[in-house]
Amino acid sequence: MTDKDNSSAKLWGGRFSEATDAFVERFTASVQFDQRMANHDIDGSIAHAKMLARVGVLSEDESQQIIAGLEAIREEIKAGRFEWSVALEDVHMNIEAALTARIGAVGKKLHTGRSRNDQVATDIRLYVRGEIDQIAGLLNSLQAALIDLAEREADTIMPGFTHLQTAQPTTFGHHMLAWNEMLERDYGRLMDCRKRVNLSPLGAAALAGTSFPIDRNYTAELLGFDAPTENSLDSVSDRDFAIELAAFASLVMTHLSRFSEELVLWTSAQFEFIELPDRFCTGSSIMPQKKNPDVPELVRGKTGRVHGHLMSLLTLMKSQPLAYNKDNQEDKEPLFDLLDTIKDCLFAYSEMMPAIQCRAENMRSATLKGYATATDLADYLVNKGLPFRDAHEVVGKAVASAIGAGVDLSELSLQQLQEFSEVIEQDVFEVLSLEGSLQARDHLGGTAPAQVRAAAARARQRLEQRQQAN
Ligand code: ARG
Repeated sequence: MTDKDNSSAKLWGGRFSEATDAFVERFTASVQFDQRMANHDIDGSIAHAKMLARVGVLSEDESQQIIAGLEAIREEIKAGRFEWSVALEDVHMNIEAALTARIGAVGKKLHTGRSRNDQVATDIRLYVRGEIDQIAGLLNSLQAALIDLAEREADTIMPGFTHLQTAQPTTFGHHMLAWNEMLERDYGRLMDCRKRVNLSPLGAAALAGTSFPIDRNYTAELLGFDAPTENSLDSVSDRDFAIELAAFASLVMTHLSRFSEELVLWTSAQFEFIELPDRFCTGSSIMPQKKNPDVPELVRGKTGRVHGHLMSLLTLMKSQPLAYNKDNQEDKEPLFDLLDTIKDCLFAYSEMMPAIQCRAENMRSATLKGYATATDLADYLVNKGLPFRDAHEVVGKAVASAIGAGVDLSELSLQQLQEFSEVIEQDVFEVLSLEGSLQARDHLGGTAPAQVRAAAARARQRLEQRQQAN
């Protein structure tokens, strides 16, 4: 990156009588971070040049020269040979200046009927659309991994918690499908956001459109947009699509942070429910025994910056008068960072999930500890004719007595159980077993292993249908 050409040679320099202050030049520049949109900028410019030729503003030959020049610049950038200049402020003017340097005066015609305002709005939408499609793929990979895990562990009993206290038995498979549902809704939000991203602002020019006979439908079509945007003022100014995407990303991170928290807990010596692969963990420089779940911890931690970026973007947009304001240049760093972050986190999790090992014995004995089948006993009593509130009371007393004796409900004898209610018979022991409790919840969304397998199959079908459609 250079700033050697700090002179009056600005593309907008005509009305200025002194060179830009060196600090201001750096302060107002965005090329340091917006150069990552170079390909999208070139795509937008090529579409614009084709359109200008089609409507007769440029000759076919001029348009061809511009397109060839832009393609050559694309190659130069790709090869790392392009010299970015801070004095040229942003990706748009760097490329435009390089074009004119390369092909001569005809390069100066490219900017006819457009402004950097509709140019940057187009670039961001193109960039974001590409990111959305990548993120959709990563989300679906993670979902596929969760569904595989759910099928693999549909019979692996673990305690289900409320208030992080043992509540009722569930399975590791069922738990994985809960995570998958969160991501499924995130996917829906992403696709919904994509519809509003995929509209072309090109042609709005600075704010009011242009006097040239442009064809906005044509550029929209060339760039793969669903349609042009409706209003020129709105087109160049709002970044609500980026805010929506940040909100989507914030929810994904909220979900991943919940997974992370559980993974961290489950790997601890106090739980010992799972084993994470060594290649996803790190050690301690002082405590030789440590195997730290750094990846989940970092994912949990990175949630903070993504949520922060959502706040940045919301605050950035707040109170901006129509139409474009330079404030909007500040949209890029938060947007890029949140997209990079969420892609890394989704990738890490989709790679790590298949390698998780369940410690089924530990999960089972943990489930036996917290009176997880107490509700099953209450339901049993209801089936024998007791009103639920009375049944609740009876079981509460039985649990208190079992706690006193230091045993599980299933370890009380039939005689002992009958002291709490005479309707209790030998068949109670099936109800008090962990397997019995799971099997009893044999309905859509329940814990019965057959239901979990069916739910996993439906989830997989949903995913496969979507992959075929794409
Ligand atoms: N670098 C600017 C941005 O990111 C491009 C648009 C500049 N437009 C302007 N009128 N100064 O928003």
